[in-house]
Amino acid sequence: MYPIARLMDEHRRIEQVLDALEGFVNVLESGQDTNHRDLQLFGEFFKNYADKLHHMKEEDGLFTSMEEAGFSKSQGPISVMLADHDTGRQFVNELEKAGQLDELDERVKSAVSKNARGFSYLLRAHIHKEDQILYPMAVNRVSPQEFQELETSFEEIQEGFQNSGELSQLEKIADDLIAKYC
Ligand SMILES: [Fe+2]
Ligand SMILES: [Fe+2]
Repeated sequence: MYPIARLMDEHRRIEQVLDALEGFVNVLESGQDTNHRDLQLFGEFFKNYADKLHHMKEEDGLFTSMEEAGFSKSQGPISVMLADHDTGRQFVNELEKAGQLDELDERVKSAVSKNARGFSYLLRAHIHKEDQILYPMAVNRVSPQEFQELETSFEEIQEGFQNSGELSQLEKIADDLIAKYC
């Protein structure tokens, strides 16, 4: 699959799980019972699918190709994207930590709600910037040959995730969370 199309497909999947995370927070804020341990599942999906699988393709793949095509990684759009990835990791760590607690008191519940909504806002805006601005810039500047190499390397990353069974496990987590909270 063409590298940009693959990254955009992954964005659509990530957005579905963000919908589920917002659904979870709506239940939490309404005062109904939630299984807060599900935060560990959200953490697993965002850490391993959004970060390890998707951001790895961007950081080690696309952004590096863009740097070779003349873009800076230390300033401008790529640096903003890298900073967003880092901020997202901090939000996910906090959510995961809450999922490991025996129970959530009111203070932690309100922190979970703030972190989950902050994360969702950040990642949706980030995805929008990539789809609308960064990826089109890459399409204009990165050579077809470089895109060919990216396609091969994305294929290898994908196969690694598939062969270890990790991808199907993450897809199942996503499906379960979407079914429960959307
Ligand atoms: Fe990104
Ligand atoms: Fe992305």
